[in-house]
Amino acid sequence: MVVTIEDLRKTYLMGDVKVEALRGVTLSIDNGEFVSIMGASGSGKSTLMNIIGCLDVPSSGRYSLLANEPGTLDRKALASIRNRHIGFVFQSFNLIPRTTTLENVELPVHYRHGVSSQEARRRAVAALEKVGLGTRLNHVPNQLSGGQQQRVAIARALVNEPELLLADEPTGALDSHTSIEIMALFQELNQQGKTVILVTHEPDIALYTKRIIRMRDGLVISDERIDNPRNARTDLDALTASEGQQWN
Ligand SMILES: Nc1ncnc2c1ncn2[C@@H]1O[C@H](COP(=O)(O)OP(=O)(O)OP(=O)(O)O)[C@@H](O)[C@H]1O
Ligand SMILES: [Mg+2]
Repeated sequence: MVVTIEDLRKTYLMGDVKVEALRGVTLSIDNGEFVSIMGASGSGKSTLMNIIGCLDVPSSGRYSLLANEPGTLDRKALASIRNRHIGFVFQSFNLIPRTTTLENVELPVHYRHGVSSQEARRRAVAALEKVGLGTRLNHVPNQLSGGQQQRVAIARALVNEPELLLADEPTGALDSHTSIEIMALFQELNQQGKTVILVTHEPDIALYTKRIIRMRDGLVISDERIDNPRNARTDLDALTASEGQQWN
């Protein structure tokens, strides 16, 4: 198992008011899965993702990640797990402005000990080639389209070769065609063996994944396998053909 969670709870204290963001979540996610987490705003999706990604700690419950017990580790050990095992992708890309594509992607490699700057560069170029941006190495974020910026963010998430990719609303800021392109990339990465967990509001996007977990009020209310996920590459080809027709 990549992720095993048992009766996970997270309570935030806001002054005197308790917000129960997670109220007893139990689930496990296996190696090679492609999971989407859905649910209304405030249902606890990001809270759950942040705990899975060791960005936050639960109030109670058990959590293990790739044979580690994050609950028993200090901040430094958690940071090291994040850097080695997890890649994050966010809705707002979170790239460093006025900094080239290549430098943005190199950054997480520099946090690792014993990697030369030459090797960091080599890995960053390889990750950017993987997401189809090998010709945009010296662009800065505002010279790239939204879809390209998200690809840079995905390359940055991949550069340390994590087993697990966590994406919180990765297509939330993108138009539908670009969203499907990003889903094609996630499907490809999943086929190559990456475990992917993605939060989305859009039912159409969830249909590209292999399993849909639905949350409500801090609880999992359904957990469903998708036998025949849609193929994003096929949908893109169909879209491109129909867009071509419109212009002819
Ligand atoms: N740092 C925090 N401090 C206090 N309350 C928080 C904090 N983070 C989240 N919450 C509360 O916990 C609940 C779950 O929030 P969460 O961000 O996990 O929802 P979400 O499902 O990701 O929503 P959205 O779809 O809007 O992103 C909400 O009621 C939210 O207000
Ligand atoms: Mg959220």
